[in-house]
Formats: sequence, structure tokens, C-alpha cells
Amino acid sequence: QVAILDFGSQYSHLIARRVRELHVYCELYSCQVDAKELEEHEIIAIILSGGPNSVYEEGAPHVSQGVWDLIQKNSIPVLGICYGMQEMAHVLGGAVVPGLKHEYGKAIARRSEGCNSVLFEDMPEEFQMWMSHGDKLSKVPDGFKPVAATDNSEYVAIENLETKMWGLQFHPEVTHSPLGKVVLKNFVVGVAGAKQDWVMTDYAQEFIDRVVQQVGPKGHVIGAVSGGVDSTVAAVLMTRAIGPRFHAVLVDNGCLRKDEATKVLKRMKEDCKVNLKCVDASDRFLSKLKGVTDPEQKRKIIGTTFIDVFQEEATKIEEEVKHEGGSCDWLLQGTLYPDVIESISYKGPSATIKTHHNVGGLPATMKLKLIEPLRELFKDEVRELGMALGIDEMSVWRHPFPGPGLAIRILGEVTPERVKMLQEADDIVIGELWKSGHYRKIGQAFVVLLPVKSVGVMGDGRTYEFVASVRCVETTDYMTADFYHLPYEVMGTMSSRVINEVRGINRLCYDISSKPPSTIEWE
Ligand code: XMP
Repeated sequence: QVAILDFGSQYSHLIARRVRELHVYCELYSCQVDAKELEEHEIIAIILSGGPNSVYEEGAPHVSQGVWDLIQKNSIPVLGICYGMQEMAHVLGGAVVPGLKHEYGKAIARRSEGCNSVLFEDMPEEFQMWMSHGDKLSKVPDGFKPVAATDNSEYVAIENLETKMWGLQFHPEVTHSPLGKVVLKNFVVGVAGAKQDWVMTDYAQEFIDRVVQQVGPKGHVIGAVSGGVDSTVAAVLMTRAIGPRFHAVLVDNGCLRKDEATKVLKRMKEDCKVNLKCVDASDRFLSKLKGVTDPEQKRKIIGTTFIDVFQEEATKIEEEVKHEGGSCDWLLQGTLYPDVIESISYKGPSATIKTHHNVGGLPATMKLKLIEPLRELFKDEVRELGMALGIDEMSVWRHPFPGPGLAIRILGEVTPERVKMLQEADDIVIGELWKSGHYRKIGQAFVVLLPVKSVGVMGDGRTYEFVASVRCVETTDYMTADFYHLPYEVMGTMSSRVINEVRGINRLCYDISSKPPSTIEWE
């Protein structure tokens, strides 16, 4: 495996992701990992990540001497990226100083004249790379030679062929470094000779093997399942690991999509063999939402009620398990890597990583240990894993659905009649998107019901009914989004079907706002 030592950079997991894209197995370790831990694996290369510190500062994180000894003893190739390169230089006798100019953004790197570094094989003389650093090298360590420069930094890439060490000031792992993948491939495959035979199903098997050990022969695990791709993939993995000792709970909060609870239950039980219990708490949620119009208030009510319901169910499961001589000490969460980054406090590698309170909602007071099989993956990797596990296309490609559900898509007061109206409209719109082949190209699509009535005419009669709006956005990270350019014909079919088939709606609009300045949801 390739070991990535993490110095706390925002991009460390991107390095892991790029290595996985090369079909090479890698693992992420703390930069202060013990040599003994690394020695338990067959490490063929080490990548030192970037990080927010300055190597020369007191308290800055460093690789342990034991690991440097291991590198030397086994002649392990090392690639240092940004802070990683500065760490190498610092330890091996070079010098790192604060740069006069901080360099953030695109830069053109030029290969040193006549240089044919293995790292730049199949690359042009000049290439664009992404920089994000304040410090820079002022002296290369003995035995190293510079192999690329920019206008601002003389030592943008350095190499020591004898000790098999390379350093890069730029970040090859980000998409703004278009040829970064080539550099990483040249190191991981070219230099380290990694086999490119790793696939997503290996990831699944590794998780399963690990969790079987962790939970033990009698341990039980509980988890909330919403039917979205993350919780589905996590639940399937868990079921493959420990079968019926995994207890999944689906809470129907009365604000789910049309027939959602029934569909998820059927899919989970029949197709995925997940031991799922559906708790219908819709009346409890809807009665608490009565008369509430403020969006944040709705979120709060749904969030706390969810925790109450889940906790009650978990207690029941724990009691049952106890009676049978087992114990339930674990909680499964479908946290993804982007959720983890959002929750990291940027104080360096020793900063504690808070657990993101995911859509499923983690009852903070529960004394359960967490299992998070997806915390190293990005959404598209989870989808790839879902496909590899044979999970159906509908589940794998489902758009994200917010925890508070339709409650934040019914502007104003949430009533059972309005939920029903929106469920019908939403079902038609989503159905038409699948039918017309647009669903998978859209980041998120839904209908919102406005607390506004407009006049219409149906047959010979005047109508005075609600207005709804379709929202379809293109986005990859949900932080920014553009409205989706849906063809008029598809809009036409949606409009005619919603207005004719849903009692209570006589006008359908299409939302053409982007985020920012609007948000994706209307509330
Ligand atoms: P906005 O509306 O902020 O949405 O542009 C960005 C993404 O977050 C989802 N979202 C939520 N998800 N609970 C959730 O679990 C919430 O309260 C919530 N609010 C927004 C939204 O659906 C979109 O994917």
C-alpha cells in the first residue's frame, strides 16, 4: 500500500482519492504515526501531505525519527507535497523561510533546463499547477537538485534519485492542477511500482473484515437509514459484515416523499437484505409542526423529535439484544468526507475532528461508539461503491434529500393536506425527470409549495388554488449551484400533469435562480 501521512491539509483526502483513482490501494495516517504501525503493512511509498503550519515554528508537527529510519532502512520512495516537502527539507538539511509573497492560485511551473525527472515523464516543459503556500525553500538539502521552478519560487520541485525522494511545492492532487494526476501516477506507479489492481469492492471487503473484528461475535450495531445513497450503502456494508446483528431504523416523520417509507422498506428488505424497522411517527411530527411557519423552528422541531424517536427505538433494540445475551455498543453513520472536512477545526493535525451531525442525525447524548464506513469517500465514490455492491440505480443516483424533508419545501405552515399535495406534485416531477433522462444530470430536483393562491380557469369554472415551483439545480458541491436548463417540452409535460392531476395546485413555475445569491432550498 501507499501510506499518506496527513499534516492536516484540507487536501489530504484528495491525495488518497487520486491514488485510488489510479486503482492503487492507499491509507491515510496521522503525520505522527508510529513506525511500528507502518511496519505492520507492506508500504511501497510514502506521501507527505500539505498542512497549515510552518515547519520552523515551535510545536509544528514532524514525522517521527522512527519513520525516517524505516524509510531509510527499506529504501521507501517519498513524495513531499507543500508542507510535506518543507518537512523533508527541514529534516534533511535544507532551509525553509517565509515567502515574501504568498502564492495562492494558478502558477506556471517550468521544468529545469535539460531536466528529465521521472516525476515529469509524459509532461510538457511548462505546465499549470495550483499553489497554496506562504513558506518556501531557500536551500535544497544535500543530494537534492531542483527540477522545476516558477517565477516566484526557485525550488518548486526537487529530487534526490539516490534516496528516492521528491518534493513539490504545488498541489498535484487538486483539479486546478490539470496534469497533477500524471505527476502522482509517475510517482506511485512509475517510481514505486504500485500494482494498479485495486477496486471499490476491495474497499468494501476491507471494511467488512475490519468491522467483524471490531464488533466481535456478539456485538450489535444500530443505525438510522433514510433510503438515501449514503445510508443505504452504509447499511448494506454493515449487513454484509454482521447480518441481522445490524439494526436499521427508518423514522417516518410525515414529511417524506410519496410512499417513501414503504418503498425504502421494500427495497431494503427484499433487495438489500437489511434488517430494517420502520417507525411511523408522522402524527407526532405533524402535530408538533402545527401552526409553525418559521423555517429554523421547523428544522429544530424535526431535529429534536427525530433524536427522541430514534433514541426510544435504540433503547428498545438494546433491551432486546441484552435479553438475548448480546450488547449494542455501536452506531452506524453514513458520514462522508466532505462532512468531515466541514467539521474540522483548522488548528493543525492534532485538532480533534468533530463528528458531523449527518442527515440521519446523531443523538449526541447516546453513549455509542461510531462506525463510519464512508468517512474517507466523496459522494461519487460512494455511488461507485454502491454500484459495485449491486445496489439498485434508483438508490445509487438519488438526489440528496434534507433531513427536515418536505417541511422546508412547504413554505409557511405544514399541514397534512399540504404534505399530500406536495408529495403528489413532487412524484410527478421526479418521475418525468427520470423518464426524460435528465435526473442523473441534475444535482438536486424538487417542488416547493407556496403559501400563495392564484386564479385559474378549469373547464368553465374559475379556480383559486395554490402555486408550486419546480427547482432543478446543477451542482457538484451544493455550495454553489446554477439552475438547470430543462427543455421546455419537459417543463410542459410536468406543468400539464401537475395542474391536471394534483387537486389544489393550479399554477406551476420554474425557479431560475442560482446559488448564490439564492439558496437551493427555499427555506
Ligand atoms: P441550501 O438550501 O443551503 O442547501 O442551498 C444546500 C444543500 O443542503 C441541503 N439542506 C439540508 N439538509 N438538513 C439537511 O439534512 C437541512 O436542514 C438542510 N437544509 C438544506 C439541501 O437540500 C441542499 O442539498
